[in-house]
This record gives sequence, C-alpha cells and structure tokens, in this order.
Amino acid sequence: SLPVPSIQEIMRSDSQSVPQRYIHENKDRPIISEDLADSPEIPVIDFSFLAKGNEDEVQKLHLACKDWGFFQVINHGVKEEILEKMKAAVAAFFELPFQEKKKYAKAENEIEGYGQNFVVSEHQKLDWSDMIYLFTLPSQNRNFKFWPLSLPGFKEALEEYSREMQKIAEELQANFSVLMGLKRDGLKRLQGGELKQGIRMNYYPICSRPDLVLGISPHSDGTSFTLLLQDDDVTGLQIKHNEAWVPVKPIPNSLVVNIGDATEIQSNGMYKSIEHRAIINEKKPRISIATFMFPDDEQEIGPVEAMIDDQNHPKLYRNIKYVDYVREKFSRKMEGKAHTQFA
Ligand code: SIN
Ligand code: FE2
Repeated sequence: SLPVPSIQEIMRSDSQSVPQRYIHENKDRPIISEDLADSPEIPVIDFSFLAKGNEDEVQKLHLACKDWGFFQVINHGVKEEILEKMKAAVAAFFELPFQEKKKYAKAENEIEGYGQNFVVSEHQKLDWSDMIYLFTLPSQNRNFKFWPLSLPGFKEALEEYSREMQKIAEELQANFSVLMGLKRDGLKRLQGGELKQGIRMNYYPICSRPDLVLGISPHSDGTSFTLLLQDDDVTGLQIKHNEAWVPVKPIPNSLVVNIGDATEIQSNGMYKSIEHRAIINEKKPRISIATFMFPDDEQEIGPVEAMIDDQNHPKLYRNIKYVDYVREKFSRKMEGKAHTQFA
C-alpha cells in the first residue's frame, strides 16, 4: 500500500483546498442535501424487546436483515454516559497535534493503528477521513503500542465501551443463530467461541466542496456484523437500498448495526451485507466509531446447514477460512462489494 497524507492536517493548514486526489468522478459524487424529510427510514429495533425474547421484535429483526441489511438499535441499555465518554475520548485523540498522533501510526500493510484507509494504486481516489483502528477483544489481542495511553481517560473509555458492545453483539448473534435455524449458541459454537472485536474510530474533517468528495468510499464490511456509534447532529452514513443512496438519520443514543459479509455467507444470502459510504459535511466535522465483530482468523465460514436445501436454496457461497476471505477481499481493493459467491 502507499502512504496517504492526513486529511485533517491538510485541512488544518488550508481549510479551503480540495486536493485533486480526493475529487471523485462525476458518477461517484454525492448529492448534498440538508433536507432529509423525504428519504426513507431504515428499520428501528428495540433491543430491550429482543433481550426479553419478544417474537414480534425477532421477526422485525429478521425483516430488517433481509430487506435492508441495516437497522438502528434503540433501548440497548448502554448508559448514555459511556457513549458520551467514548465520543469525547475519540474527539480528544483527533484534537492532538499530528506529531503526537503519529506515535500510534500503523505500519504500511498493517491494519491496526492511526492512519488512513490504505490504497493500492496511484489512481485510486482518497477518502476524506483519518482513523485509528484497535483490536479490543479478546483482551490478549490488544496491542497497547497503538493505544494513546497518555491521553487521560482514553483507555478506560474504550475498554468500558468495548465490553458494552460485546454484550450487545452476543445477544444479536444469538438472535441471528435462531433466525438461521440454529440454537441460540449455534453461531458461537460454529465459530469456536466468542466473536473477536476491533474498534475503528473515524474522523471526517469539514470540506468546502462536500459534493466532490467521499468520507469513505462505497464498501461492504468484511465482518460478521458492525455496530456504529455516530454523532447525533451530523448526518454522513448512506446505504445502498433499491439502487439509491439512503441517508441514515441519526437517532440520539442509538447504534447503527449492519450485516457483514460473514453473516451474508453463513445465512446463504438470506441476509445481505449492504454497500455503504460516508459523505462529508461542509460546516461540521464528524466522528463515528465502528465496532467490528468478526470470526477467528482460522475459522472456516460457509453457509450453515439449515440454510441450504438443494431444491430452493442451493449453496451460494463456498466455504473459506476467514483469514483467507479477508485477504481476498482486500487484495481486490476496497471498491464496492467484494464476494466469494459461486456465481
Ligand atoms: C464505515 O463504514 O466504516 C463508517 C461509516 C460511517 O462513518 O458512518
Ligand atoms: Fe463500513
């Protein structure tokens, strides 16, 4: 991969500039509109009902995963204070001087640490964002050399947030298991234990021409699923739905959940890992915090037995070791939706 400059630093020195390497071709440019009144709402799932085993809510979850691949989770039980501390910790990190952040820089071809999305060619357009990605669970996977430990409160905020996300993820995974015809612990057993967790914190600086750039280019997540915490007052995430880009309107204190490629594969295509992207705001920087839940590297993923029948639901995906899936996905570069489908 090639080194990419920090867009936050470029904006700090000249907030009006829009460097050529960030300007997308016409067909890929977003339409920037403040008026979201007419756009559809993605499904909303009440987590407290799920946790109580409410059948109607489980059915709503099923339809959300099948028809949208995205939903917002409310009443998840995570204290507002924990979410606010997490957002404040991330904001404080990105406010640090560049020299300080660089101490946590990721190495080329590594994914953990501070930096930018990697690029594989000179011609590829760059994303208008900086990020820091950290492995969080299991705790022995933490590489503290990438953690800004000198930033007061950061470690505590991230550890607490990570624990809360794991609890929510467990309950969601149990529900996905049941919806795929397994016992509540079915997917967990198939994966040989708890899902792994990594947290990517994104910073999207303002841009004087948000109509020319993208915060994150279209992609699907290579995860089992992803839990996203975003600012309440800046819209940025858009998902591909019925061939159109639909904005996700933030609900305060909610989490946005999306199905990742691994769940699409395990469900034999019943659930879809949907393409999404982030757009940029002209006046307000935006922060988002993505918690990635994923299988162990050595785990083989493939459609679960109960989701295959030769008559109506032939096996659509080949089995593949998770680490090989991720390697293939990234070698094809982060463009649109990458798949291991037969067809
Ligand atoms: C992502 O797709 O990982 C981030 C999306 C967002 O910031 O809303
Ligand atoms: Fe994503």
